[in-house]
Amino acid sequence: MKRAESRLSELSVQVNRAGWVEDNFITDDTEALSADAQDQATAVTTELVEQAARFEGLKMPPDLARKFMLLRLSLTAPAPKDPALRKEMTKVSTSLEADYGKGKYCRKPDDCLDITAIERIMGSSHDPSELKDLWAGWNQVGAPMRDRYVRFVQLSNQGAREIGFRDTGAMWRSGYDMTPDEFSAEIERLWQQVRPLYLSLHTFVRARLSQHYGRDVVPPDGPIPADLLGNPWAQEWGNIYPLLGMPAKSSGYDLTELLKAKPVDPRGMVKYAENFFVSMGFPPLPQTFWERSLFTKPADRDVVCHASAWDIDNQDDLRIKVCLQVRDVDFVTVHHELGHNMYQRAYEKQPFLFENGANDGFHEAIGDSIALAITPEYLQKVGLLAQLPSADADIPQLLKQALDRVAFLPFGFTIDQWRWKVFSGEIQPADYNQAWWDLRLKYQGIAPPMARSERDFDPGAKYHIAANVPYVRYFLAYILEFQFYRALCHEAGYTGPLNRCTFFGSKEAGAKFEKMLEMGQSKPWPDALEVLTGQRQMDASAILEYFAPLQKWLDEQNKGQKVGW
Ligand code: ASP
Ligand code: SER
Ligand code: ZN
Repeated sequence: MKRAESRLSELSVQVNRAGWVEDNFITDDTEALSADAQDQATAVTTELVEQAARFEGLKMPPDLARKFMLLRLSLTAPAPKDPALRKEMTKVSTSLEADYGKGKYCRKPDDCLDITAIERIMGSSHDPSELKDLWAGWNQVGAPMRDRYVRFVQLSNQGAREIGFRDTGAMWRSGYDMTPDEFSAEIERLWQQVRPLYLSLHTFVRARLSQHYGRDVVPPDGPIPADLLGNPWAQEWGNIYPLLGMPAKSSGYDLTELLKAKPVDPRGMVKYAENFFVSMGFPPLPQTFWERSLFTKPADRDVVCHASAWDIDNQDDLRIKVCLQVRDVDFVTVHHELGHNMYQRAYEKQPFLFENGANDGFHEAIGDSIALAITPEYLQKVGLLAQLPSADADIPQLLKQALDRVAFLPFGFTIDQWRWKVFSGEIQPADYNQAWWDLRLKYQGIAPPMARSERDFDPGAKYHIAANVPYVRYFLAYILEFQFYRALCHEAGYTGPLNRCTFFGSKEAGAKFEKMLEMGQSKPWPDALEVLTGQRQMDASAILEYFAPLQKWLDEQNKGQKVGW
């Protein structure tokens, strides 16, 4: 095991370096170099997993047994043992991510938009025909991926079966210290906990959009058209706040305006995020972080702009890669990404196989729990906001927050419902697109703004499908972050209403957080959760508590409206 860990650690550095260069300079050559590095790491891991099979059933010290378990789960894309098939799979998956990164929609021959531009326009345009056009244009990026995706699923499933899993989806669901079926039941339980809150929000938003766009564009009793929610995937809806008919200036302040007024540039946004962690006692980021990170989209080359955080050498070479715009959601994103870096640094003393989040939802939740603490009081403390808004700004603020945090929940839940069924074969290639929209209708209550067919492959227009990044982690994170946030608030001695809590500057909260983070994945995640929160279960009561005043308000507004679609 010792030898295996040191070999895997070495290989991971090569994969990271090649992956970093590929994502930052997408060319045929960097794509090939990255595929080679990944292929070698996959080959070695596969071989080690096979060799480890001979120890199955042996009684071992718990730490060692855990390492064997994590080794077997460590590939996101398990591959066939046959080198030709393995290489084919790696090539396919590398090309899918690169195609996503290069994706563009040309509305005219000289007007080509990348995803950063499309997100910006879809976030601010209120013109239904422009929105529909951009929506259709971006989804076209998925279509050419379809055949390769089908092949990827076949090959990866073969790899999963060769190491003893039913399929790749079942393998992903095995990473939560419980059986795959228990895990499915667990997230269904969490979804049922938050579903009423989502329905209240959906009903309200639909009614207000219907007033704004007219009943023929947004029927008040059906699903909401997916192009009208301020985001290409209808996953976070904060951008449509201005359309919801709230009194002007009611929310007290607009973070985008505050950032622009200061003014804060992209690097400055990252500095604010670092400063928050430092205020809680975390060490500042290394100088190399500032030299090697990518903060804005370069003008002259293709880059995978989807935000990510990197730990290149499993030591101190931390970086983020983001194409920042100066606006509120990107301010949250930098906190999100630094959460990854702070976690990576906190567990760097763990052995290689434990250098990971307690589960992958934890990793996604760290920075977001800090972002929740960006309250008016915090903004005033750091000199971004002159005057605290009055208490009647609470509902508008909570609504804005819910448009991102609550609207996301069924989206986060749905993506892997689709993918697990794709991997298991319950959804066949001939139904990929239909099944995608069936699920999105069922859980999110949204519908495509025009007819779709099996010539389309809309899932490929979402980064995590093209890049094969598991997604249910974000559903977990959007619940866990409130659980973490509530615990950090208590640790900081805060006793007021949850939505107004900040723990900026609290060394006590920082120390407690650090205690959980430094454990990495060395223990089953309930142990880690308990260290911070005293609870051993993932639990939506914190997010419900946070939004309780809003839900009450929404339900008053919704009187007489049909709930659901
Ligand atoms: N914030 C982005 C997302 O979650 C990227 C990340 O995971 O770091 O997809
Ligand atoms: N960062 C994730 C995404 O972009 C979840 O918000 O989908
Ligand atoms: Zn993340």
